[in-house]
Amino acid sequence: MHLPEPLRAARSAVAQGCGLLLRAVEPVRLRLMRFAYEVWARSQIRGDVETGVQFIGLTTVEGTGRIAIGRGTRVGRRTFLETQEQGRIAIGRDVVINDGTFIVAFSEVTIGDCTLIGEYVSIRDANHGTAAGQPMRWQPHTNKPVTIGTDVWLGRGVCVVQGVTIGDGAIVGANSVVTKDVAPGAIVVGAPARPISERSSG
Ligand SMILES: CC(C)(COP(=O)(O)OP(=O)(O)OC[C@H]1O[C@@H](n2cnc3c(N)ncnc32)[C@H](O)[C@@H]1OP(=O)(O)O)[C@@H](O)C(=O)NCCC(=O)NCCS
Repeated sequence: MHLPEPLRAARSAVAQGCGLLLRAVEPVRLRLMRFAYEVWARSQIRGDVETGVQFIGLTTVEGTGRIAIGRGTRVGRRTFLETQEQGRIAIGRDVVINDGTFIVAFSEVTIGDCTLIGEYVSIRDANHGTAAGQPMRWQPHTNKPVTIGTDVWLGRGVCVVQGVTIGDGAIVGANSVVTKDVAPGAIVVGAPARPISERSSG
């Protein structure tokens, strides 16, 4: 619609004023939203969530809720935490979990302090049963615990499958699939992930 110039100027001035107002209240809105995300997550989790855990966005919690999260850990947007059967998820202190990460435990998934998890990472300690002759959909899961050490860095899109231990200080490159144990301090990449080097000091 064609507005006369004075009206267009007035509309722009109002829009600018509204923008400034929204910018001023944005920090408060963010705090309120994060508080709401934390209340929601705590209502779903049955384990110990220490003080100072930040829920940046909505976290989906499915299953029994047997989840522990240590102080200072940051849980990204659209994180999915699922515990089934005897499953338990234990996340240490000062861990960073980026957006869209899936962690699923039928036995135990442990993540050590200060570990960094890139966006869209999948960590699961279970597989579908795969016997021939019946649909996998209806077969019970097999499971083996997954242990991720302290100060580990999992790049974007990493997939960690059941039974794997990733040693302290290891690095897993973006989009890698970790099918075997990773030595402490090793740098591994690819599908399946294989060592390319080690972290050097300094
Ligand atoms: C794993 C990583 C840290 C290695 O970095 P780097 O030590 O500087 O390694 P380089 O870039 O020198 O690469 C060494 C070799 O590994 C290969 N490589 C590196 N990362 C790879 C990956 N993710 N997948 C497959 N191969 C990879 C390189 O192509 C190179 O191969 P070449 O020797 O045949 O040329 C880095 O490549 C990476 O994946 N970082 C994760 C980034 C990310 O996901 N950020 C967002 C989440 S926080």
